[in-house]
Amino acid sequence: MRACAKIILFGEHVVVYGRPAIAVPIKELFTEVNLEDSDSTNFETNLQLDVSEEQKLNLLISFIKIRLCIKNNFRVIISSNIPVKSGFGSSASLSVALIRTFSEKLNLNLPIEQINTLAFEAEKIFHGTPSGIDNTVISYERTIFFRDKVAELIPMHKALNLIIANSGPRPSTKEVVAELREMYSNNKEKYEQIYDKIEKITSQAKQALTNGELTLLGKLMNENHKALQMLELSSEKLDVMCSDVIKAGAFGAKLSGSGRGGNMIALVGNSTINAVTDALSKYSDSISRVAIQ
Ligand code: PMV
Repeated sequence: MRACAKIILFGEHVVVYGRPAIAVPIKELFTEVNLEDSDSTNFETNLQLDVSEEQKLNLLISFIKIRLCIKNNFRVIISSNIPVKSGFGSSASLSVALIRTFSEKLNLNLPIEQINTLAFEAEKIFHGTPSGIDNTVISYERTIFFRDKVAELIPMHKALNLIIANSGPRPSTKEVVAELREMYSNNKEKYEQIYDKIEKITSQAKQALTNGELTLLGKLMNENHKALQMLELSSEKLDVMCSDVIKAGAFGAKLSGSGRGGNMIALVGNSTINAVTDALSKYSDSISRVAIQ
């Protein structure tokens, strides 16, 4: 069974503080899990894992087996084309794919809500205190407006053409979330004002998505990026990539995910896809074009 990847469109970071965020599924990128009967439970994967990540994956498989009361042993075969540590939700995708595959193999027929709840618990093994947005958008495979662990599905009237480009390495999500928390604790009033601004942008974006207003959506992405700059979550490279794609005709652009490196996203029309891709090619060798329905 497979599980897709995701990208955050609006509201990253402030979602950790109970504000809303919008995320979309990316079906072109996915984790696939297959199970073979075996004497002991073990795994094989094309993922490049260091020793501690291997330990976490063993822990994750054991955790899911225990929670689903699975006694049988399996060789767990995992393949993925999702770049890791880039904001594509690779760990949530892995958890959802594992849970779906065990559910199918053992005829458990787990409903989506249960898959999502279990994937959220599994996410804590990787991320400490995740907001829950990754496991939710990946479990439902729909564009979601997410707040306080509750997801609203957003009906989409127009497909979104996104170009996602990686600006290079970034610190771990856990690290950046903790640093923002520290800055927030020292000046709550200032940060709450910026969070309010992002909340307003995200709510307007939900409406713009529902109505298929791409020009407005692009403008809101630019505003969200500015607010993330004020939170010191961008980087020089992310900023120049965002301004260059706007010059090349994108509706709008912003960093996506935990920031200080990693991905930026640009919203484009059919006529600007090539120009925007060209503009990004001098900054990134990891550029994906995706269509969100
Ligand atoms: O790690 P990423 O790029 O998927 O982004 C994490 C999003 C945050 O809002 C920063 C953290 C969270 O748990 O939602």
